[in-house]
Amino acid sequence: LPTRSQVDPGSLPAYACQRHTPLNHHNLCFTEALETLAEAAGFEGSQGRLISFRRAASVLRALPGPITNVSQLRGLPCFGDHSSRIVQELLEHGISSEVERVKQSERYQTMKLFTQIFGVGVKTADKWYREGLRTLEDLQGQTRKLNRQQEAGIRHFEDLSSSVWRHEADAIQRVVEEAVWQVLPGASVTLTGGFRRGKLQGHDVDFLITHPVEGQEAGLIPKVMGLLESQGLVLYQHTQSNHYQDFKDLEHKVSQSTAIDAYERCFSILWLPKSPTSFHPEAGEGPKEPSRDGKAVRVDLVVAPISQFAFALLGWTGSQHFERELRRFSRAEKQMLLNSHGLYHPEKESLPAASEEDIFTHLGLEYIAPEQRNA
Ligand code: CTP
Ligand code: MN
Ligand code: MN
Ligand code: MN
Repeated sequence: LPTRSQVDPGSLPAYACQRHTPLNHHNLCFTEALETLAEAAGFEGSQGRLISFRRAASVLRALPGPITNVSQLRGLPCFGDHSSRIVQELLEHGISSEVERVKQSERYQTMKLFTQIFGVGVKTADKWYREGLRTLEDLQGQTRKLNRQQEAGIRHFEDLSSSVWRHEADAIQRVVEEAVWQVLPGASVTLTGGFRRGKLQGHDVDFLITHPVEGQEAGLIPKVMGLLESQGLVLYQHTQSNHYQDFKDLEHKVSQSTAIDAYERCFSILWLPKSPTSFHPEAGEGPKEPSRDGKAVRVDLVVAPISQFAFALLGWTGSQHFERELRRFSRAEKQMLLNSHGLYHPEKESLPAASEEDIFTHLGLEYIAPEQRNA
């Protein structure tokens, strides 16, 4: 590991998309504390505080060595009084009373539990909390409050709250590829999200699908999901068709800082059998009552036309904070709008890009490899 003297805050750029942020870093106890406060701020709807704590944590993840003295925080970008105080507390006492108080609070624990459910965001979790609900059992007693997605999220809660491992992601990829190639020979399936950044475990598996001939990819997902469904592998799915045309006008481009894009996509829960022999659809073991010899896994499928593929790949690789910083950099430093469909000068068409490298070049940024985007 690099020594303390190599921590040179003066050389750290302000935007996360200008930094190399590896998966494993040297300041885990600080980043965990700051991420807890970021998360708790998000639960209270304080987007500003959420981003401040997340930016501070992200800076520490990019440092070449551990913080061992508060003086090292001086000159670091994005480090305000509050974040500095937390680090100081941790350095002096090994524990932060504020972070501990948050973690032990009923509010934080309940919001964390509820927002962990597939299909439940902060708004819904907060509403349930204010209604006095606290546990999964409470929710199961109130099923009329649940939509189809949340109901599936609770039914598969145990599987979905355990990590997806890399070998499981690879197994899902083989299943998805098989179905995609049957429907559209020549299509490609790319693993994106956290696994593309080198993570060994994740909360879901993200795939980006395209075809070398523009237009061939359209309408792929309903056919692929139909095929998987006939194999008894679909526990839940919600497919959205491509609505880029409605999305393309400037109004939408301007509000592009949200992560939402307009691609054909599917948010699903798939059944991953433990071994090929453990699943016998002909024996009547449908997906609704799967044998325990397998696991429910959250899978996101996104389909992009080849001309937008590089933007979709960059947008779906994350991390979420890295993406937010890329868009902020584009807007504030380059007066351009970046989203998962393109990079636009206001009022103009997207700049063409055949690769992620092209996009970084358009923005005047050094290329950051996926493994270094763990901001
Ligand atoms: N994303 C997006 N639009 C959504 C959901 C996600 O553009 N509606 C992007 C996110 O910004 C992120 C990437 O897709 O860059 C992956 O999102 P997600 O699966 O939530 O996170 P991961 O980084 O893959 O982490 P995890 O391992 O927890 O899945
Ligand atoms: Mn560099
Ligand atoms: Mn993911
Ligand atoms: Mn995802």
